[in-house]
Amino acid sequence: MRDILISENITGAAVDRLAARFDVLYLPELWKDPEALAEHMRDVRALMVRNQTRVTRELLCTSPELLVVSRAGAGLDNIDVEAATEAGVLVTYAPDQNSISAAEHTLALLLALMRRIPAADGDTKAGGWNRKRFFGHEIYGKTLGIIGLGKIGYLTAARAQAFGMKILAWDPQLSRDNVYLAQLNAELVGLDELLSRADVVSCHVPSNPQTAGMLNRQHFATMKPTACIINTSRGEIINEADLVDALKSGKIAGAALDVRANEPPSKSELESLPNVILTPHIAAFTDEAQERVTSAVCEDVARVLEGKSPQYPANRPGTRPTVLA
Ligand code: MLT
Repeated sequence: MRDILISENITGAAVDRLAARFDVLYLPELWKDPEALAEHMRDVRALMVRNQTRVTRELLCTSPELLVVSRAGAGLDNIDVEAATEAGVLVTYAPDQNSISAAEHTLALLLALMRRIPAADGDTKAGGWNRKRFFGHEIYGKTLGIIGLGKIGYLTAARAQAFGMKILAWDPQLSRDNVYLAQLNAELVGLDELLSRADVVSCHVPSNPQTAGMLNRQHFATMKPTACIINTSRGEIINEADLVDALKSGKIAGAALDVRANEPPSKSELESLPNVILTPHIAAFTDEAQERVTSAVCEDVARVLEGKSPQYPANRPGTRPTVLA
C-alpha cells in the first residue's frame, strides 16, 4: 500500500516535507492516462491533484483504500464530490489561498487590454515605434461589471475601485445588504443590466450545470460595442464560438481569457484575433499563491493520514463504507 499519489505538477517545500514523512509517488503526467491512473489508485490512501485529473465516480470505485482526495486549488469541477462523499472519501482543497493572485492577474489582463500592451510589445520588439497605433483607454471612471462576487470577485473589484472604477455586481447568492457591496460602494443588478452598462465585464463564477454556457450570443448582443470581457474563472461558462462571432462582428471590443472550455485548448480563431489576450490558466500561478496552496493541501493530507480532521474540507463523508457499487 502506498500513502500518497500526486498525479499532476505539484511541487515545493511542503511536498518535500510530506515526502520525508510519507511514501509519496510523484507522477505529474499521470492525469493524461486515465487507465494508468486507475491502476495506480488500487492501493493508495491519498490522491493529490490540480484541475486536470478527472476524479470520477468510476475512479473512486477502483480505489478501495482511498481516504482523501486533495485539490491544490479552489475549483472542484474535476472532482465528483458527491460520489466521494457517498464513498466515504474526504475531499480537501485550498479555497482562498490563491485568491489574491487570481485577482491580480485579472487586473493585469484588464490593464493589458485597455492599453493594448501585448500588441505594443510585439510591435516594438519587431522594430516598430508606432506611438499613434497604440492609443488606449483609461479605466478611471469606467464601469466594471463583476459576475460572481465571491472572494476573487470581491478582491478584483476592490483593486479596480482603487483605480477609480465604478462597480456593478451580479450574484444570485447575494442580498442587497451584503457587506461586500457596501465596502465596494457597488450596485447589485440583474445580469442583463450589468452586461448593458459595464465597460468591462469580469467573470468569477465556478463551473457547474447552472453556469455552463451562461454567456452566449444573446448576452454579447446586450453589451456595449466598446466593452471588453475578462474570464479568469472557468472556460465552460462562455460559449467560445459565440464569443468569436461577437469579437469579429464588433458586438464587443475585446476579450482576455485565462481559462478555456477545453484545456489545453485545440486551435481556435481566438488566437488570431488582435483584440484578444490569451494566457494559459496561470492566474493562480505565483510563487506566493502556490506556496500557500501546497502548504494547505499537504498539511491536510498529512492530517487525514494521521487520523485527524482536515482544515479545509470540501465535504463531510461518514466513515468509509465498502467500495461503491
Ligand atoms: C483554482 O481552481 O484554484 C484555479 O483555477 C487554479 C487551478 O485550477 O489550479
